[in-house]
Amino acid sequence: MADNWTPDSWRSKPILQVPEYPDPVALDDTEKRLASYPPLVFAGEARLLRDRLADVANGKGFLLQGGDCAESFAEHGADNIRDFFRVFLQMAVVLTFGAQQPVVKIGRIAGQFAKPRSSNIENKDGVELPSYRGDIINGIEFDEASRIPDPQRQVMAYRQSAATLNLLRAFAQGGYANLDNVHQWMLGFVKDSPQAERYRKLADRISETMDFMRAVGITAENHARLRETDFFTSHEALLLGYEEALTRTDSTSGEWYGTSGHMIWIGDRTRQPDHAHVEYCRGIKNPLGLKCGPSMDPDGLIELIDLLNPENDPGRLTLIARFGHDKVADHLPQLIRVVEREGKKVVWSCDPMHGNTITLNSYKTRPFERVLSEVESFFQIHRAEGTHPGGIHIEMTGKDVTECTGGARAVTAEDLSDRYHTHCDPRLNSDQALELAFLVAELMKGGRDEETRVTAAG
Ligand code: PEP
Ligand code: CO
Repeated sequence: MADNWTPDSWRSKPILQVPEYPDPVALDDTEKRLASYPPLVFAGEARLLRDRLADVANGKGFLLQGGDCAESFAEHGADNIRDFFRVFLQMAVVLTFGAQQPVVKIGRIAGQFAKPRSSNIENKDGVELPSYRGDIINGIEFDEASRIPDPQRQVMAYRQSAATLNLLRAFAQGGYANLDNVHQWMLGFVKDSPQAERYRKLADRISETMDFMRAVGITAENHARLRETDFFTSHEALLLGYEEALTRTDSTSGEWYGTSGHMIWIGDRTRQPDHAHVEYCRGIKNPLGLKCGPSMDPDGLIELIDLLNPENDPGRLTLIARFGHDKVADHLPQLIRVVEREGKKVVWSCDPMHGNTITLNSYKTRPFERVLSEVESFFQIHRAEGTHPGGIHIEMTGKDVTECTGGARAVTAEDLSDRYHTHCDPRLNSDQALELAFLVAELMKGGRDEETRVTAAG
């Protein structure tokens, strides 16, 4: 058990990005109510994820993490969840085929509601209002009443997370993810999608393999691995009162777990070692993510690793590098080197979204070529350092939105206004997400061929 830690010990630490609730009594009541509700996930599931991530940290697997920048109450429909899950499964299949390694699947979903903001104030045409902080805190509508933090929203977020998780569990375990359906996952695809043909070819090869296995007696009916998949949830642990209310002791081990999601991460703006977010996270046993942006220096990183993973458990900590396509080469190598020198066991993942945001025609967007470029650099740097490029972390949707420019279907700056639906940052649409998966699969395959060559030569 972490020293001097309790689920509420974060309350005595400095804290950033905290909403100002006008009615502290109502907030307290809500948190007490949430604390009496059932957990959303179980300790055993979080432990399973830690084991899977330990394999990734040891170079045997790849992490695919993705979903909305911010989930919203308005868009909580079955179609949205299904469309996301379908593209996510397609990406996972592409990656598994490319890497010939297990892919650990974690959604930014069923709890990804609270947003850190670079400014407390939003200014529109000379009118100033408090910033939108995610549906779990206040409303996105630009009027005074909507922007007042409302504790009742935490209960709504909890209930939405439970319903989302319920559907995801059904998709993952109830037959939808059966590999015999590998062609069906494409049906929602618009026919002329540039990635469709590529995906169809790969699906044909998988079907052929399934036919062969069926001939030798291995079928989806008698092998759960072919018929089900493990899917985990994650979100940024930003709203600590909500996280605390869902922190529970595991009856089998007596350890504390956050039960709001399987993995939670600490954002780039709230990772000060002596502040509240690090304090909360160090005491729970879930796998943790830590965003690493340009202001992370090698000593600071080691200090955080020692606080968050004192036992150097390989599945505990995922470092999510988010520097920007033009900065990654300046920052990542020194961080990898210090981690190697100190013998720290971590998963390295690449978030090619948050360092590549620009404004075009007054829309926040991300040029797809910069996203690809950061991922490519991430792989090259890891190859050069002899370390494992362990995963990607992306903002994406299963819908055909126009939020990031570029991609095979070339979304232009003028197109952005067509279907710009995000509640926060611009997401890859389903085409762009799949295109990225094909690129990553190529990069992984390149690395594997190289390893084979080295082994054969050595
Ligand atoms: C995010 O993942 O949505 C986010 C805010 O990221 P970061 O903390 O890396 O800026
Ligand atoms: Co974001």
